[in-house]
Formats: sequence, C-alpha cells, structure tokens
Amino acid sequence: MRAVDIIAKKRDGLALTAEEINFFVEGFITERIPDYQVAAWAMAVLLRGMTDEETAHLTMAMAHSGEILDLSGLAHIVVDKHSTGGVGDKTTLVVAPLVAAVGLPVAKMSGRGLGFTGGTLDKLESIPGFSVALTTEQFLATVRQHGIVVAGQSAELAPADGKLYALRDVTATVPSLPLIASSIMSKKIAAGAEAIVLDVKVGRGAFMTTLSEARKLAELMIRIGASAGRRVTTVLSGMGQPLGRAVGNALEVAEAIETLRGNGPQDFTEHCLVIGAEMLVLGGLAPDPDKGMTLLERALAEGQALAKFREWVSAQGGNARVADDLSLLPQAPVTLTVAASQAGYLAEIDARAVGLATMALGAGRERKGEPVDHAVGVVLGPKVGDRVEAGQPLLTIHAQDEQSAAACKQQVLGAYKLSSEPVAAPPLVYDVLRG
Ligand code: URA
Repeated sequence: MRAVDIIAKKRDGLALTAEEINFFVEGFITERIPDYQVAAWAMAVLLRGMTDEETAHLTMAMAHSGEILDLSGLAHIVVDKHSTGGVGDKTTLVVAPLVAAVGLPVAKMSGRGLGFTGGTLDKLESIPGFSVALTTEQFLATVRQHGIVVAGQSAELAPADGKLYALRDVTATVPSLPLIASSIMSKKIAAGAEAIVLDVKVGRGAFMTTLSEARKLAELMIRIGASAGRRVTTVLSGMGQPLGRAVGNALEVAEAIETLRGNGPQDFTEHCLVIGAEMLVLGGLAPDPDKGMTLLERALAEGQALAKFREWVSAQGGNARVADDLSLLPQAPVTLTVAASQAGYLAEIDARAVGLATMALGAGRERKGEPVDHAVGVVLGPKVGDRVEAGQPLLTIHAQDEQSAAACKQQVLGAYKLSSEPVAAPPLVYDVLRG
C-alpha cells in the first residue's frame, strides 16, 4: 500500500477501506507518512467527504493509536464533555469543576486552539504552573483523587488525533464533518468516559454554520458513540456571537473564575448550567435537566464549584490563588476601548471576525506548534439585542502594543452591525439530542 494511492483515491471521491485508513493513520503516527501527505489527504477528505463507515473506521483507528483508558473502576460513572469549538467558549473551565463539585467525576481530554477558535489547553496554560501534559497514570490518579482532570493528548492517548489536529489547524482543513466527528470521538473514546455531552456549536463562529449541518454532525457523533458503547447527548448551541464577553486565553480564564464566583455574564452562566445539567442526567445524579440545574445553581451559590476549581488547579500544578486574585494571570500592557459611533440596537457581533481579530493579536497560531500569547484578546460590552448609545464602549482590546491594538480595532469594528429597530437576542440553545 502507498500513501499517494490512498490520497488519490480520496481525491477522486472514492471510499477508503478500513485497511487503507488503518495504514494511513499508523503511517502518520510512526512518521512513515510525512506531514505534507497527511495535509493533502486531509484536504481531499474535506473536499470529498467520507461515508459513515469510513468516519467510524477513522475514529477507531485514531482512538486505537494509543491506549484506551478503562475508567470503570474509578467511579460509578465518569462523564466527559466536549465542544465542537467556538469563540469565547470557556465552558469547560466552569462546567468541569461545577459538575465535579456536585459529585460527578469529570475526566477530559481537551484540544488547543483550532482555526479561529480558542482551545481549552491554551486557556488553562495561562494559569501559572498549570500542566496539561499528564501521563496516563497522572490522568487516572488525578480523577481518582480529585474527581476532575483535564489534559491534552499524550503520546499515550489518541496521539493520531493530536498530530492531525495540529496539522488541520494550519492547513485550512478544520471544517470537515468526518474530520471533526472522528477527532472529537477518538479522544472521547480513548479517554474512557462512558457518557459524553457534546456541545455542538452553530453559527458564524462555529465550524458548522447552519443548524442542519450541526444536526448532521451531532447525529453522526451519537452513532459513533453508540457503536463504541458510549452514551452521547448533544446540545446544539448558538455561536453567532462570542459566548460570554471575554475572547482570549487569560481573559477567558478570568471570566470563568468570575462565573464560578457567581458574577459571570448571564448567557455564559446559563450555557454552563445547560451543559452541566445534561452531564448530571447522563451520570445519573439528576433525574432530569431541571433538577440538575437546581443542584448546579446551589454548588455555584454556596462556593463549592469555586472550591473545586482551586483544588483542580493545584492538583495539576497551577497556582490556585488565581481564583482569588485575577492579577496573577498574564496581563497585556496595552488596553484600548472602542466606542460606538452612533446609537442603535446591536444586531450582530460576528464571532468569526472577533475570533480572527483575536488570533491576529497573538491569541492563536498561524503555524503548527507556535506558542500563543496568553494575555491578549478582547472583552465585549453589550451583546446582540442590547441598546447602544453613541460613544458607549463596545469592547476593550488587550494587546502587546499600540499598533496591534489599532489594527485589531479596525478588524473588530467590521464584526459589529447596528440596527435602528429593536433586535431579539439570539437563542442560546437550539435543540438537545439524546442518543
Ligand atoms: N474539536 C476537536 O477536538 N476536533 C475538531 O476537529 C474540532 C473541534
């Protein structure tokens, strides 16, 4: 078998066999197949698609590229969550400690920023000392002791996805239904949780821009989960505008901490409660989402979620004092506030444009493996549906220098549309599909 023939077959729109997919995945983790061939193959998959059967084979080949953890001895049930990626999506930073505080263990393998979206690992690394590079033993010991762990792919867990993910990020091959579904599900299967809540984002700031595409992705992941014996719930949630107010690594950590203190933006707090409640239902800790919400609201109000966050941060080597002192997070030296030039109702904040502007400040990567700047980003003021007066601040840019702040201002202003007529706030959740 030759890699070039497999690339050509996919380029010509033919379905690959399980043997061909296994050969390709094994080839790229052992580096027999170079990155440029993997990139060409990923582009062929993006353009030609994959059948459900190919996607399931690709998922299992990537999951089996490393160990498959068995968490069954750790707790009655361990639940995981994953987002398909969005702008300002710091949900894991709140939901993981929130749900763990209620008694449901969370063991999660996360990713880095991808395309114009941020990544949980990059966000967590803005906490001084926090380590996302855990061995399998450390991963298991952390969830056993603390009921919570979030780590990156290691050489041991789904390494094929780790490599492919980094390549896709810089080769414009992210928005492909089979590549997203197999990437997410391979990690979830390898990390061992029996039940998984998938937050499938829809809109300009998501890889799936229409509800019908998002629904297809959700249904595909439910089917892949079922074939691997995992229970999957998908929440189809809005990503037309950024989630919450902060976009950028440390700024998002700060917003997550504020949310755990009970002072988070209303949309983001509610989103976390919806995802968390579905996790509690899957984990058997709540009979229905409403009861789940009540448990979570109590854990937030009584401070257990924030206490669990501190415990989690120090368990993974981070400075837990950030939970009480946000100035310990990286701070950008320059801030620039952008004001509205006229009055009106906010009709649009294009999440993709905000994501791209934030990346240009240095919060994301252009090349594989590049470091990110944890301090930079933007913090939004009013959101879609809000009334804005002329001169009112729309957002604040956090940058390394005046020049990049000014460039960001030009870019980000294009993301805003005002209307003279009142505008309804967009829905937070479109649908919940339970597998
Ligand atoms: N999240 C992932 O883990 N993989 C993707 O491909 C997209 C979002």
